[in-house]
Amino acid sequence: MDRPADDQRLGRAYLAPEVTVFYDRGRCRHYAECVRGLPQVFDPTRRPWIRADLADPNAIAEVVRRCPTGALHYRLLAAEPEEPTSPTTITTDPQGPLLVRGDLVLDTPDGVLAETRAALCACGRTQNRPFCDGACGVNASHPGGTRDQAPASGKEP
Ligand code: SF4
Ligand code: FES
Repeated sequence: MDRPADDQRLGRAYLAPEVTVFYDRGRCRHYAECVRGLPQVFDPTRRPWIRADLADPNAIAEVVRRCPTGALHYRLLAAEPEEPTSPTTITTDPQGPLLVRGDLVLDTPDGVLAETRAALCACGRTQNRPFCDGACGVNASHPGGTRDQAPASGKEP
């Protein structure tokens, strides 16, 4: 399987024989598409919170593609990497970021990053440019249910 060089920038890897799921906690803004889509795989009350071995790999990939922030990515053993959507779409979350999907080339402090999904900061307060880091308060009224709302342990899930 060809692995793009940018994999190392996608966060922690959760391995299963036919699929790897990557999670970047700093980019998750709790839209909960993952938890709603495959609760047996994405369970923020469990450690590890992602179990990529508990569902069909293609079903996992389909749910990962729903993640609007790009906090989640996947690599399938038997299929090509995620195709960007076309045309590029930009959706405004009135509570914070711009949700962008498409064939993206992002200018980050660590260099250019090829992406398919991202929640980009629209308020200028983020410490994780160009991504929304929640400084806008987008999750201020969120009741919880995703990883970042778990009690801080200082560790990744
Ligand atoms: S990883 Fe975070 S941002 Fe992505 S779908 Fe899950 S809760 Fe939403
Ligand atoms: S839009 Fe969320 S930190 Fe700027």
